[in-house]
Amino acid sequence: MDTLEINWVELRERARQSATKSYAPYSRVTVGAAALTSHGTVVEGCNIENASYGLTLCAECSLLGDLTRCGGGELVAVAIVAGDGAPLAPCGRCRQLLFEHGGAKLLIDSGEGAEPKRLDQLLPDAFGPDDLDTRSNA
Ligand code: THU
Repeated sequence: MDTLEINWVELRERARQSATKSYAPYSRVTVGAAALTSHGTVVEGCNIENASYGLTLCAECSLLGDLTRCGGGELVAVAIVAGDGAPLAPCGRCRQLLFEHGGAKLLIDSGEGAEPKRLDQLLPDAFGPDDLDTRSNA
């Protein structure tokens, strides 16, 4: 696979646009996410809240729905922003969800002028799909 050019400016802008589609009547924290895939495509998501608060879907969850719907692939780089346009650190559950589809090397935007972080900085020693192969005993 050729090295993909990561256009962070575009990813941030698409994440901001996605945040405008958010359904967040409870927290009023709108969130958008956009990611470059190994296919060279960009997938997006926004948070979708629920009156039963615990059922809220984070922007990263709906981004993964978009990834699957659009033909899959690995996530290479992701920008997540709140409605103010500034980067938002993925919650713990979403770090695990992103790990499944991007692995340790997935790059997470830290904002303009800052180095992106690798997912293994945010989720060290992750449990993932490989563990199922090596750790099954039945
Ligand atoms: N939220 C996300 O969309 N992604 C995260 O990683 C953190 C939190 C959303 C969920 C909820 O709709 C709102 O932010 C406030 O928690």
